[in-house]
Amino acid sequence: MRRCNMTKPFQDLIEFIKSLYPGLYPVPLHAPIFTGNEKKYMQNCIDTTFVSSVGKYVTQFEEITTQYTGAKHAVAFVNGTAALHIALQVAGVERGDEVITQSLTFVATANAIAHAGAEPVFVDVDMDTLGMSPVALSKWLKSNVFMDAETKSAVNITTNRTISGIVPMHTFGNPCRIDEIVAVANQYNIPVIEDSAESLGSTYRQQHTGTFGLVGVFSYNGNKTITTGGGGMIITNNEELAAKARHLSTTAKISHRWEFSHDEIGYNYRLNNVSASIGVAQMEKLEEYLVSKRQTSEAYSTFCKSHSIEFFQGLAEGQANNWLNAIIMKNRSERDAFLIATNDNGVMTRPLWKLMHKLDIYMHCQHDGLENSLFLEDRIVNVPSGVRRLNS
Ligand SMILES: Cc1ncc(COP(=O)(O)O)c(C=O)c1O
Repeated sequence: MRRCNMTKPFQDLIEFIKSLYPGLYPVPLHAPIFTGNEKKYMQNCIDTTFVSSVGKYVTQFEEITTQYTGAKHAVAFVNGTAALHIALQVAGVERGDEVITQSLTFVATANAIAHAGAEPVFVDVDMDTLGMSPVALSKWLKSNVFMDAETKSAVNITTNRTISGIVPMHTFGNPCRIDEIVAVANQYNIPVIEDSAESLGSTYRQQHTGTFGLVGVFSYNGNKTITTGGGGMIITNNEELAAKARHLSTTAKISHRWEFSHDEIGYNYRLNNVSASIGVAQMEKLEEYLVSKRQTSEAYSTFCKSHSIEFFQGLAEGQANNWLNAIIMKNRSERDAFLIATNDNGVMTRPLWKLMHKLDIYMHCQHDGLENSLFLEDRIVNVPSGVRRLNS
């Protein structure tokens, strides 16, 4: 090991991580694995020539997703950001509106709001979920919003803009207090669009994340629990909304055997059959992957406990998919020293995203005090969490 000025517990942690992933150098943060029917299903796409956005795997991928999550409808997208953009649009977000989300998130959450023509407003997260705090949400709404008697919509007292969406995010796959968030949102008649990009396989009180709000969104980027190379999904119980999302994702083309006519400005956002075929194969393995990830998370937890390292553990009411495990450092300088020591020694780690309200592009946006977000930004480090092949 290269010399580093880390304390013994952290040096031991680096060796422990290497022992979890033997033979991998560097140990990736989260590499995809393909141990099922991926090649077979992809070959079928080529053999049948169905490689584009029409094909049996797109339909199958959607069906498996509804069965797995319990949502009534699923619509497959080219990526999670596109799915989130359309989810916002079909939920009623319009140009010039405001949408409340968290500053502690990946930039795609805020970008999708901007793509929908709205402006993000950032509220704080809970320390024990890393996701939107229902208390912070309620506080912000109480002091910044009035209800328009005519439209029955929430309006920002200062900007006079409609608040047309709330987007909580289940950070690193840890369910946030989504039931409480939905209850607050209902008081103000604002739809909840769940950014569950990271939380496929995570449940809260035995219900799948993404199914609490009006609509939920998954991502199948290469770094997620399962991947399609690139892909996304909208889930919802609202049939009309699902149909609208599907229509918008396919250039808003009116179905006809040969004519090309479009009744809205749509998007080319539909997932292709090859990616979907990988998705079907990966879904067949999801439960197995989740077991492996749970074991890894438990191993981290046990190690950290015995070495006085703070390991992030979510709510007891939630069952996380353990997408990315996180440790909490004492301060920013300890965090930075750990990031250097790990990345210099063949273990990929990464800090939390720079908070959204600190980015030049979103600096002008309204936000609350964000105390927890700022605290966590200085301290959280994600450690390697990919699926381990325990039984092979
Ligand atoms: C919280 C969050 N939202 C949205 C996205 C966007 O998904 P995608 O990369 O598939 O566009 C991601 C992942 O990348 C994410 O982590």
